[in-house]
Amino acid sequence: MTKNDQLADLAARAEGPLLLWGRSLQNFRQVCSLFPSSPFVGRAMGWAIAERPAGHVVELGAGTGAVTRQLLRHGVADEQLTLVEIDSQLGGHLRRSFPGMDVIIAPAQDLAELWRERDGPPVGAVVSTMPLRLFDEETILAIMRSSLAVLEPGGVFVQFTYRQRSPVPEHICDALGLAAEHYCRVWINLPPAGIWVYRKRPESAL
Ligand SMILES: C[S@@+](CC[C@H](N)C(=O)[O-])C[C@H]1O[C@@H](n2cnc3c(N)ncnc32)[C@H](O)[C@@H]1O
Repeated sequence: MTKNDQLADLAARAEGPLLLWGRSLQNFRQVCSLFPSSPFVGRAMGWAIAERPAGHVVELGAGTGAVTRQLLRHGVADEQLTLVEIDSQLGGHLRRSFPGMDVIIAPAQDLAELWRERDGPPVGAVVSTMPLRLFDEETILAIMRSSLAVLEPGGVFVQFTYRQRSPVPEHICDALGLAAEHYCRVWINLPPAGIWVYRKRPESAL
């Protein structure tokens, strides 16, 4: 590799973190991330969905693909993964970084409608690194309803958070008939991240 090639390679690798940083400064409540998640977060999320029913995986708020890379490394096939990202610049970056991958540039709230329109395959897991606790409750409810509408029976919704408590408020879990489980804390991340898993309670008719 020539020196110029090396510089071009370095610039390409640096593009993701720099872009995330820039987008975060532009719209902190939406992006809320000065650094991509550590690989350990993506790995823990991969473990958390290991018991999912067979089917597709949808990643909400894929950003620059830090979690995506780990999902691919931990058993999710690229043709079984769909990325959803609201920010068009980050969405464009995802399309360039993962050529051929299904990338939807839209709000996660619209997932159910988009999935219906495209007659999407059964979904076994939805994984999210969106900053849920910065959203108003109406938005959290809309995202959860939309995700639950695409999930197969027994499917899991996995969410990360920097807070101690469940990122989906308890009364929203109750309203939707969801059981919340604190799956693990990932200490090797800045700051340490909690991983939560949500499943429909067996008695839930939703
Ligand atoms: C904390 S960053 C996580 C980025 C990346 N997944 C990571 O772990 O490094 C949150 C991401 O969620 C995206 N996002 C925020 N609200 C969203 C929404 N309503 N629908 C889809 N994506 C959203 C942001 O644009 C941002 O890329």
